[in-house]
Amino acid sequence: MIAYFNGRYMPKQDICIPVEDRGFLFSDSLYEVIRHYPGGLFRPDAHIRRLNRGAGHLGLSRTDFSDLIPIARDLIRQNHLESQDALVYLHVTRGAAPRNHPFPVPTPDPTIYVCVSSFDPDDRARQRETGIKAITVPDIRWSRCDLKTTGLTANVLANQQAAEDGANEAIFVRDGVLVEGTHSNFMAVFDNTVVTAPLSNYVLGGITRDTVLGLCRDIGIRTSESPIYQNRIHLASELMVTGTTTEVTPIVILDGRPVGNGMPGPTARKLQNALTECILF
Ligand code: PDD
Repeated sequence: MIAYFNGRYMPKQDICIPVEDRGFLFSDSLYEVIRHYPGGLFRPDAHIRRLNRGAGHLGLSRTDFSDLIPIARDLIRQNHLESQDALVYLHVTRGAAPRNHPFPVPTPDPTIYVCVSSFDPDDRARQRETGIKAITVPDIRWSRCDLKTTGLTANVLANQQAAEDGANEAIFVRDGVLVEGTHSNFMAVFDNTVVTAPLSNYVLGGITRDTVLGLCRDIGIRTSESPIYQNRIHLASELMVTGTTTEVTPIVILDGRPVGNGMPGPTARKLQNALTECILF
């Protein structure tokens, strides 16, 4: 696989990261995962806007990474993935410098890594067809979940707990509210209204979340960006997660209890169909 590292295209296995890179030492870094469908990248500008915003909040020395879009397209071409489903992974760190908590002086160049990988959509399609199991876990993450940093230990632990419980995703609960998944946003249907947590410092502004809310408006499904309380979750007729890799995936079992009639519901299906249509290039 050819990847991109600090200005050069090179075989992925030849890339060396200095041990003093702050991404390695402090998770002082941001990432994005962009979906490539046969024919093109899905909303790359929105991903770069989120990355740029994060870079501004982290005070990185560069806050415009729009040049990574043509680089991502180059990598798709160079790795012969144009007509396949694939993922683009972007990772930007504050750079390498001797370990010290404050921002290094002189300011290092950010470390920039972009790679692509092929993505098997069939497994995910099966999950969308049957629905998935999810569990709820306490949200032990920090208070800037709106920034897509690589500090993902809490997400890893929660997802591992889900796997050990035979589930596919864990939904974080903070102060009695179901906030989002370990790598997805969370939505519930109450009284034919799609409800999802309002954007805040506790939630990632998902590109798929944004797309799905737009599709709801387009096809006449009511939406509400408001808290989803754990003590009302049994009243939801449908639950679903949205994300770059999950698209719109229904949750049919939460914490061992069936959601609605225990089958994928009509709203999730409609939204997935609408998303598939807007993906077709
Ligand atoms: N994760 N919330 C969290 C915590 C996420 O990590 C993600 C995506 C989302 C959905 O965002 P989007 O629709 O922009 O993909 C929500 C990526 C896919 C990952 O970590 O692999």
